[in-house]
Amino acid sequence: MGHTLLSLLGFFLLNLLYRGQAQDAVLTIEPNWTTFFTGESVTFKCDITGDKDSDWYYTIYNQHREVFSSSKQKSRTLHSLATGDSGEYQCLFQHGGSTTSSNTIYLTVSDTPQPVLTVSPSWPSPGASVTLNCSVDHPSAGWSFYWYKAVPQKSYYSYSYELLPGSYNGTKQGLFIIDGQTHTAGYVCRAGRGDPVYYTSYSKPVFFWSGDMNSAASLTVSPDSVQHFTKTSVSLSCEGNSTEWRVMRFSQPDNLLPCSIWGTMTGSTCTITRRRLSGVFWCESETGQFSNAVNITKDDGDIILVSPVRPVAEGLPVTLSCKFKTENVYNADFYKNDKLIQNDTRRELTISAVSKSDEGFYKCKRRDSADGRTSPESWFSVKSPPGTGKDSQFPILLIVGLLCGVLLIILLLLFLYRYRKSKDSCYSRSQRTNQGPATDHMINQDEIQNMPEYSTLLHGDRCLYETIGGPVEAGNAGASNEPEESLYINVAADQ
Ligand SMILES: *[C@@H]1O[C@H](CO)[C@@H](O)[C@H](O)[C@H]1NC(C)=O
Ligand SMILES: *[C@@H]1O[C@H](CO)[C@@H](O)[C@H](O)[C@H]1NC(C)=O
Ligand SMILES: *[C@@H]1O[C@H](CO)[C@@H](O)[C@H](O)[C@H]1NC(C)=O
Ligand SMILES: *[C@@H]1O[C@H](CO)[C@@H](O)[C@H](O)[C@H]1NC(C)=O
Ligand SMILES: *[C@@H]1O[C@H](CO)[C@@H](O)[C@H](O)[C@H]1NC(C)=O
Repeated sequence: MGHTLLSLLGFFLLNLLYRGQAQDAVLTIEPNWTTFFTGESVTFKCDITGDKDSDWYYTIYNQHREVFSSSKQKSRTLHSLATGDSGEYQCLFQHGGSTTSSNTIYLTVSDTPQPVLTVSPSWPSPGASVTLNCSVDHPSAGWSFYWYKAVPQKSYYSYSYELLPGSYNGTKQGLFIIDGQTHTAGYVCRAGRGDPVYYTSYSKPVFFWSGDMNSAASLTVSPDSVQHFTKTSVSLSCEGNSTEWRVMRFSQPDNLLPCSIWGTMTGSTCTITRRRLSGVFWCESETGQFSNAVNITKDDGDIILVSPVRPVAEGLPVTLSCKFKTENVYNADFYKNDKLIQNDTRRELTISAVSKSDEGFYKCKRRDSADGRTSPESWFSVKSPPGTGKDSQFPILLIVGLLCGVLLIILLLLFLYRYRKSKDSCYSRSQRTNQGPATDHMINQDEIQNMPEYSTLLHGDRCLYETIGGPVEAGNAGASNEPEESLYINVAADQ
């Protein structure tokens, strides 16, 4: 008896448990991410599985704080998330007198990330392929990447960003390859996800630099040297296809500042007013022009190596010299890539015709100084002479190809024109001259006109034959009574 009661109770409890399981109270979120960013939205969905009865009320809590009050709405959206919205979320289900709690979901809301863009190589050779690498926090958050070109803006030293073709819908990869980079140019990236797209901030602009002049813009450094003494007045002049220039300076780690901060801009010339200043300098204009870039240093030091700022073309002569802060003159040793390459009494290193192998890091050293005073090291860059480089070979080939194409078309047109003219005249002539002696290769014109694909060819041949054989025939004119319509083929065999 007691046993029966107990087992009944057990069955009842089991049944309850089973019913409880069948009626799972579930909280899900949409989109199904674990990390959100400030400004994004999230939708909470409260669901009772296995219950068609709709008389439930739902309340959503974040750590016991009511986020959405009791309502019959199953699904609620939290807009413009802030970092304070992070935490454990739960849905409370109420039906009549009973209440049930859902699973909990932990949400993290992080600050909007700022991607970091890196480029390589920073100094590409003309026409090389270059790579942009956009990296962002939470890399597995399902980002797409958007790529932009930086265009200088009038106000202060800002840029506007132009979406690059090929990244309208974003790229899945955080890498973007640009083929044929020739000039100095700046790029920016940002990431985005979701629909509508939620964007991160933009990265800082990053530049590819070209040491070589281009026709649209150029920067000249005066005096022409990579290294300068603190006392030297160094000026940077912009020239080219713009009336308004600004000179920018980049220095590690990521300092991008215009001349107005570290120098004086007069017209299109910037004079460095700081005693010490190093970095990469270039000119840019609102019309989107960027000049060649120079990497120069103005610093304390008793010795400098005077070397050209711009790459020197192969085959040209170049002279590197050693300068001393004091007026005294000393002998100097020259080093390339830390190897002594000249230690005589000349104070200059002269290369009569530079070649690619002369490229490298150069420095000079005062020979008689006990402490071995040395200049800083400078990169000496060599470029291909005009007309032989990969960059210039391509347009030349293109132009030659185009010219050949145009020439061919002209020749073809001329030929067709002449052919038409001669065909017209041949036709009338053939009626007069084709009365010459019959040869063994004769075809009736009617037969030929029934084979249209051959007729043109034959007309042509006949004309050729006539031009060659005309005079001979003319001599025999009237000697035979061949039908007027006959004509000759197989010209080569006849001649
Ligand atoms: C949500 O994501 C988790 C883990 O990322 C996964 O286990 C779960 O199945 C997803 N739920 C839905 C409804 O997509
Ligand atoms: C891109 O940059 C990130 C972060 O600097 C780095 O971890 C990753 O290896 C880079 N990817 C490539 C292909 O260079
Ligand atoms: C980009 O998105 C638009 C609209 O969303 C679509 O029509 C187009 O086909 C997409 N382009 C590519 C290359 O996927
Ligand atoms: C100079 O600028 C004008 C107008 O912006 C442009 O049409 C022209 O092609 C540019 N010339 C060069 C050499 O870049
Ligand atoms: C500029 O030149 C110096 C000395 O050669 C070098 O250390 C530095 O990395 C260069 N800067 C850039 C941005 O290329």
